[in-house]
Amino acid sequence: MGTMTEKLSPSITNMIRMDHTHVLATFHQYEADTAPKTKQALVNTICVALEIHAQLEEEIFYPALRSVGRHRETIDKSPGEHDEMRELIERLRAMRPSDTYYDDTVMQLMRTVMHHVADEETILLPDAEVWLADRLGELGMEMTKRRLQLAAPRAGEIAYNTVRGMPTTSMLVAAGAVLAGTYLFKRSGRTRWQA
Ligand SMILES: [Fe+2]
Ligand SMILES: [Fe+2]
Repeated sequence: MGTMTEKLSPSITNMIRMDHTHVLATFHQYEADTAPKTKQALVNTICVALEIHAQLEEEIFYPALRSVGRHRETIDKSPGEHDEMRELIERLRAMRPSDTYYDDTVMQLMRTVMHHVADEETILLPDAEVWLADRLGELGMEMTKRRLQLAAPRAGEIAYNTVRGMPTTSMLVAAGAVLAGTYLFKRSGRTRWQA
């Protein structure tokens, strides 16, 4: 059992990378002059994503890596770094985007995240791909199931933040891509017709 579903689910390591990319890409939309409502939505998206991601790693990824006896030190300090992020998340939730230290607190959170993500992506993930090579799909599946459980009660919140955090630029890029596609389609159609 499982081979089919395991093929459909990304490996646990790629899933962790995708989570990191999602958080960093959301953060890259946060600029000093971003509208306060958009700031709030971006930060909410980052916070929920980090909370779910940290819990998934603590419940599934770290124990799996610990079971093969690898990088105990890096793994042992990870929950502490997650707690540091959780504290900053709590602080941000008690603030408003217009508060003096809001931007600073967001930057502090992202510094902590980037430092932590660097350790995971350069030490833990490559190592997991060697030492847990035959379990990556199965662990990915386990993570997907648990993610659904953790995200389900927060689905409304996640969707709301995603829409509110959608920057005008990315909507323009998306619209631009559609227009460019139509243009290319028309061009290629005309070329074929003319040929
Ligand atoms: Fe982590
Ligand atoms: Fe991570």
